[in-house]
Amino acid sequence: MRTQLSFAPLAGIETELLAVLAADTQTSKAPYAKPQPMLLTSDAAVQAAAASVLLSGEYKAGANETVLLHAPAGVAAKRLLLVGLGKQAKATADKVRNAAGTAVRFVKPRGIRELVFALPESELLPAASCARAAVEGAFIGDFDPDTYRSDRKDQSVESFTLTAPAGVDCAALEAAFAEAIIIGESQNFTRSLVNEPGNKLTPTLLGQRAARMAAEVGLGWEVHSTEKLHELKMGAFWSVSQGSAEPPALIVLRYEPEGMSDGPILGLVGKGITFDSGGISIKPADKMEQMKYDMAGGAAMLGAMRAIALLKPRVRVIAVICAAENMPSGTAQKPGDVQTAMPFSADQPGKTIEIINTDAEGRLVLADGLTYARQLGATHLIDAATLTGACVVALGYVNAGAFSNDEEIWAKFNAALATSGEMFWRLPLGEEYAEQIKSDIGDIKNTGGRWGGAITAAEFLKVFVEDTPWIHLDIAGLAWVEDSKPYIAKGPSGVAVRSILEWVRSY
Ligand code: BES
Ligand code: MN
Ligand code: ZN
Repeated sequence: MRTQLSFAPLAGIETELLAVLAADTQTSKAPYAKPQPMLLTSDAAVQAAAASVLLSGEYKAGANETVLLHAPAGVAAKRLLLVGLGKQAKATADKVRNAAGTAVRFVKPRGIRELVFALPESELLPAASCARAAVEGAFIGDFDPDTYRSDRKDQSVESFTLTAPAGVDCAALEAAFAEAIIIGESQNFTRSLVNEPGNKLTPTLLGQRAARMAAEVGLGWEVHSTEKLHELKMGAFWSVSQGSAEPPALIVLRYEPEGMSDGPILGLVGKGITFDSGGISIKPADKMEQMKYDMAGGAAMLGAMRAIALLKPRVRVIAVICAAENMPSGTAQKPGDVQTAMPFSADQPGKTIEIINTDAEGRLVLADGLTYARQLGATHLIDAATLTGACVVALGYVNAGAFSNDEEIWAKFNAALATSGEMFWRLPLGEEYAEQIKSDIGDIKNTGGRWGGAITAAEFLKVFVEDTPWIHLDIAGLAWVEDSKPYIAKGPSGVAVRSILEWVRSY
């Protein structure tokens, strides 16, 4: 998708489709109060062209509600599309992100290849953050997951133009516009990886994709396999891969700003299970095919690293992605087995883990990934994983789970959420929960019973971060969009890429 920024007056722009935002200004709560939709543009010709549909009462400007007008009088565009933002008083940049996605997904199935999207004019909506949100939303809307359809026509929109009204700060807008392209493309890079089936994206192939991306954007990279896991004594990570014919991949990416040799090192750790069958504690067949997306946390880290490499924040970052396939076989680990996790230093013993359920494999690969990131010098840690079904039970498909052992790092992450617009809800940690994962035979066990499953999984990870400030993101419920929405296709969401990036940029 080509993107451009324009400052031309709206009514004169010749295009297949001009999308303009509308908001409902009705404030009365009376049950039959008529909606009062209003266009968020000062262009008189566009307002005149939309006047009769706005007056009709048929169009309410609800969130992502659309109405299409052909051959609008007095406007050079062939079509005028109104996209609703919902109540005007509640309009935010996030809603603009969705509205832009809606406009793109409106044109795609109609074979329209180009559109112009008017930046809303409203005091509640700062131009730069809306420009960024709109471009991100356009990329999000443009993504479709049907890559393996033999009759797939390349439905991608060819050209997306954002127009800004006269009088805005051009430099700020241009900067926001340029970074939004990088962010939108990076989120879609993550989504394209998450979309791949297990046979097309094994741990080895994920390592190759990561290496190719790293070389393209100028990141340092290493991809290791079985031997290195043994060398580092990554007994927990290795135990997950031991039942599969596919070797594991330990993916390490490094970003170092020029001339920077002190300050924090941020460690990004991702769960990269390219297929999770559950192992010997095998999952039920129903929906098992979805477990190809069990590498979404790792893919989010790859997308974030791509954006970091291109946006160049002044902070060092390393990413560790632990990729493996969790399979049952004669060589697979068994419930009751005891594994020894990677020791932080050679003079320390590794912690011992009693395997209760081989389907609680994400925390095993992350345990060694977190230790390795610390060993590589990470001073602050963030991990992302499709870790527990329990997190989906707790928060549904609306919020992803977040955990932290440190108020300062959490405050920074929470501030990042305001920019990213992503929904994370902080859940508690606590010693009482840690009791649930004590083992009779070793240090800890890999499941903590039925109750509070997202929390006991987080407590398990906490054992391996020790005192390092850390954030854990459980994205099990949000990594895959279950039902398509007007602004996003059903399929991989790319959740967490924007929040992780924004958090990194806050250092
Ligand atoms: N990958 C799953 C978690 C998951 C579930 C992700 C649903 C996305 C959607 C994870 O490896 C898993 O199997 N977790 C178990 C843990 C349990 C055995 C303690 C779970 O949540 O059931
Ligand atoms: Mn599992
Ligand atoms: Zn899993």
